[in-house]
Formats: sequence, C-alpha cells, structure tokens
Amino acid sequence: MDAFRPLGTRRTLIRGTGPLVETVRAEVTSACERFGGEVVRDGPYDLLLDLVAGDDLGLGAEGFAFARAGGTTTVTASGQHGVLYGLFHVVRVGEDAFRGTRAREVHRPAAALRMLDHWDNVAVHPVMGQVERGYAGGSLFWRDGRARGDFAQVRAYGRLLAACGVNAVSVNNVNVHEAEARLLTDRIGEVADLAGALRPYGIRTHLSVTFAAPVVLGGLSTADPLDEAVRGWWAEAVHGVYEAIPDFGGFVVKADSEGQPGPFTYGRSHADGANMLATALAPFGGTVHWRAFVYDHRQDWRDRSTDRARAAYDHFAPLDGEFADNAVLQVKHGPMDFQVREPVSPVLGALPRTRFAVEVQATQEYTGQQRHVCWLGPMWSEVLRFRPDGEQGATVGELAQGGLVAVSNVGDDPFWTGHPLAQANLYTFGRLAWRPDADPHHILDEWIALTLPSASTSERLAAGLRAVLHGSWRTYEKYTAPLGVGFMVQPGHHYGPGVDGYEYSPWGTYHFADRDGIGVDRSAATGTGYAAQYAKPWAELYESVASCPDELLLFFHHVPYGHVLRSGKTVVQHIYDTRFEGVEEAEEARRVWAGLADLVEPARHARVAERFEEQVRCAREWRDQVNSYFLRKSGIPDERGRTIH
Ligand code: GCU
Repeated sequence: MDAFRPLGTRRTLIRGTGPLVETVRAEVTSACERFGGEVVRDGPYDLLLDLVAGDDLGLGAEGFAFARAGGTTTVTASGQHGVLYGLFHVVRVGEDAFRGTRAREVHRPAAALRMLDHWDNVAVHPVMGQVERGYAGGSLFWRDGRARGDFAQVRAYGRLLAACGVNAVSVNNVNVHEAEARLLTDRIGEVADLAGALRPYGIRTHLSVTFAAPVVLGGLSTADPLDEAVRGWWAEAVHGVYEAIPDFGGFVVKADSEGQPGPFTYGRSHADGANMLATALAPFGGTVHWRAFVYDHRQDWRDRSTDRARAAYDHFAPLDGEFADNAVLQVKHGPMDFQVREPVSPVLGALPRTRFAVEVQATQEYTGQQRHVCWLGPMWSEVLRFRPDGEQGATVGELAQGGLVAVSNVGDDPFWTGHPLAQANLYTFGRLAWRPDADPHHILDEWIALTLPSASTSERLAAGLRAVLHGSWRTYEKYTAPLGVGFMVQPGHHYGPGVDGYEYSPWGTYHFADRDGIGVDRSAATGTGYAAQYAKPWAELYESVASCPDELLLFFHHVPYGHVLRSGKTVVQHIYDTRFEGVEEAEEARRVWAGLADLVEPARHARVAERFEEQVRCAREWRDQVNSYFLRKSGIPDERGRTIH
C-alpha cells in the first residue's frame, strides 16, 4: 500500500505550464507507472489539476479549490503552488477524493511563510557537532565542510516538506561560525545548488547571516548599521546573492544573543539593525527574519532583579512601528527557551504595528531529543489559539502575519527524524502553519494514515499509534520539570535530569527551590513584574496565586510545598504523583508499541522499540531524581508511601 495509490490508478488531466506544474506532472506520472493509471491529454478523466488564468476565486498564489461532480474530481488553482498543494491534498484525501460528489472547498494557507530553520553547521563544530541540537544524524545539506552534493536527497526532502505545506527553508545555523559566514559571499554557489534542489517543490531558500559580516568578510572596521560603507557592503552582498539565487527568500539573524554580534555594539537599536538588512533585501523582494531571542546570558545568579523571561518584551516592545515592511520579528513561542511548558510569549500581540513570526522547536532539545516520544501538536496548537488580548481578540495564529517557523528536527537519518514517530511533529507543524486553528488530533490522524497506510485498514494499528502519541507531550511533562518551572536538565546537552543543573549558572533559568518552597515570583506586586507584560485579562490571571493555572504556577509564583493547587493536591504531592504517573504512562506506551510488532515494518518497529527502552530508563531517572530531591528538600513524605530514594 502507498498513499499515492488512489491517485496512481486514475486518469488525470493536468492543465497549465511552469516548473511546479512539471513537478506535479512528474509526480502523477510516477504514481501511474507504479499503480497503472494514466496521465491523459484530453478527456475522459477522473481528476483534473487545473492552473487557471486570473484569480476569480480569490485563491491567491498558493491556494486551491477542490470539488467533485459528475464523476470528476477537480483541483483549481491560480498559481503553480496551488496545483502542487492541491495534488498533495488529493493524496491526503485518498480514495474518498474519487467518491460521490463534493461541494467546492477552498483551501488557502493562513500565513504566506511556513519555514523550517535548520541549525546545521557546514563544518563540524567542536561542541555542537554538525547539527546544533540535532538528533537525526548528520546534516542533509552539509558534510565535511562543504555542501553534500547528494541533491537527490535534498530534493526528496523538498518533496516531503511540500507535502506538509512548508514553503521555506533556512539552510544554516543561527549561530553563524567562520565557515558558515562565507555562505553569504564566496560560497553562495553551494547555497544556490541547495536552492536548485528545493525549488521544484516550491521551497524558497533562506540563509542565516552574521551581523558582523562587513567586518569578518568585508574587512571593514565596523558593522554599524547606520554607517554608509556598511550599508553599501550589504547592498552589494545581497546583489550577489540574488544573482546566484533569483528567488532567494531572505536572511535569518540572531543578533546580540548568546555571543552573536549585533547592533548594540554600535549603540544602535534592533530596528536599526533589521532595517539596514531589510533595505538591502527590499529591491529583490527578500525578507529579514530578525530573532527576538535577546537576553543576558551572563547573568549573576545572585541577582534577583534580572528576569530572563522579561527580556524579549523589554527589548522589542518599545520598537513597535519602527521595523520596515520586509522585516519580520521572529519570536520564540514562550519567553524562555522551548521548555515543555511555558506561558505564551507576551511579545506575541504586544507589537501591533510589527509583523511577527512564531518560532517553535520541532527538534526536541528539551523534550526528549528524539529518544522520547513527544508529539508537540497540542502544545503548538495551544500557542496558536491563544488570544493575547483576551476572549474578544484575535488568536496568535491569526496575528502571526510574518509566518510560522520551526527549528527543524530532520537530518540524514534513514527515518528522517531519528525517532520515526518524531516525523509526526514535522507534519503537524506544516499543517498547523497552513491552518493554525486546525485540530491537531485530526492532523495526527492524517499523518498516521499517510505514513503507515496500513493504518487505514487496521484499526488496531491506528488506535495503537494514537494511544502512543496523543498524550505523549503531557506524559513527558509529568516526569520532567513540574508546573511550568522549566529546565532542571543536565547542562550543555540538555538531556536527562539535573535538578540544580542550571541553578547557579549565568543563564537566567532558576527554580529557587529551598526547604520551604519553589518557583519564580514573576508577579507585579512582589516579583519581577513579568506578569504585567501581558494584556489585562492575562496579567490579572497570572498575577494571583489563586487564579494562575496549575500548569504554570511555578513559572509565575514561588509557593510553599504545602500550597494546595486548584486540583486539590499540594504542590509536593503533585510532584510525586505526576512523576510516578509519567513513568507508568511511558511504560504503557512501550507496551502498546510492542503489541504492534506484526503491523509495522520490522526496521521501523525495532527503531521505535529501542528508543522506548531508553525513554523508560530516562523517565525513571527523572522520577527518582526529582522525587528524591523534593523529599530531601521538603522532608514531606509521599502520602502513598511509594519508594523515593
Ligand atoms: C537555545 C539552544 C541553542 C540555540 C538557541 C537559539 O538556547 O540551546 O543551541 O542556539 O536556543 O535559539 O538561538
């Protein structure tokens, strides 16, 4: 069985011309070669893929209409991208696309930019390796200090992404080291080769650049964004990029962040920095994605007045309205750093006159490193459905006009993502970027049916996969850091428990546990004032211990261990109970997976089974370390008398 079978057994007419239409033609032809259908030049046909002139239906460049009448299924698009996405839609719908009649449905992406950022290094970094925070083998793009040359695989990756709805890729790490800096200038040819392999699937290529490029590449004495020579240097560099890659998407910039250079060095603002690059890109239709991940990573842990969570808002909210039209502020979904539980970043919604993109992390840095099953769809969906201005206002998904971005979880691993079930995160990201209000569980069902087509015939397999994936994010939360407090990981690589791992570090990520209680007071009344960065309904909700949601309590408040949660349990009993439950749930998921052995291809089954062994081992380690830590700190025994060490 193959997801393309329903398409490949039909007669298909394709109308229109252009490179993406040719991609569609090749896809349909190859499906027909495998399954016996035919690409026809005129009727009769079962499926019409039609690129029409004009846009009477308001489909835009990427949308399509889908209908079925009189025994014919029709995809209509007014742009080539629409034909491509329409094709994948037919594949998703499967046999049902060719049954009965269907009133016309219009499908249009909510955001024009749906991007994956690869944190791939060209040269292996001594600490971070080939892919920073990568858990799926090496880079798809780079090896041994050069572009890999295996463009068939890059093309296959482009195909995979297009099937998920992704239309942009940034090909190198946001931390731009020496070799990577040169991709902008003398090594742009390598980027052009990658762009060439991705282009047939409608994917535009972007590049992470260093703000110091005029100095490190151009030999100028400054990278001051207001300096004429600097501006001229960038204009010329951008010109060279577009000569090599005419449809280049733009730059991603991490500036004044974790040691990367930025405009602060010259006493300039981040709007000055972003706008300089926006000006250079504007004549060519490029965009600068300027990251809002700016904070003091050399904080003194003794200093209780600095709160890292506040930093992005404090830096960027005053700049609202100052950014150029083709500058997009790229904001991490939470105020800290991709933890298993964080509130939605107060920056999202605080800058009404600034285009912003939401950045999520598909690569599971803090969520099990693709050794644990952790399907993040429900978390991302919560972020995208959040209404920064309260019930009456728009959702983050509606407001994010600069697009949706995920840090990629893909590498050169045969399963793409290391853990085969982590593919569900990639797919869910693409589909949520297309429709941020979609039900993630529905998306997961799509992924199950497409990836393991036998799931459409085996209810046992589909039910097993749902059981393993649906609650996996909450399971992971249950055995790791409790109640939104975050971190508690081993420093550096961030895998496995280290309750005090970052407690006395410069990184600004503390939990402040002592013998009496735990949590960070971020209230306006007695704490860091972070809670007041939200619009009123949220600021009020988070400000008070009584109304703050349980799952975020320790993010916003420092409370005694005996504090009774809204759930009716004390904080410490909640910690014990959920650690035990989390391990039990991981063990149960492992058991369910083992029971699917006869239904899943052996290599795939074995890979997941092997990772479950590690997940269960690691979950027990988390349980025992976290529980022992709090028993020793608080002296309060577990009500149920279970073993705590
Ligand atoms: C995290 C991550 C880094 C990464 C950074 C970023 O801090 O650990 O590896 O560079 O995020 O998003 O820039």
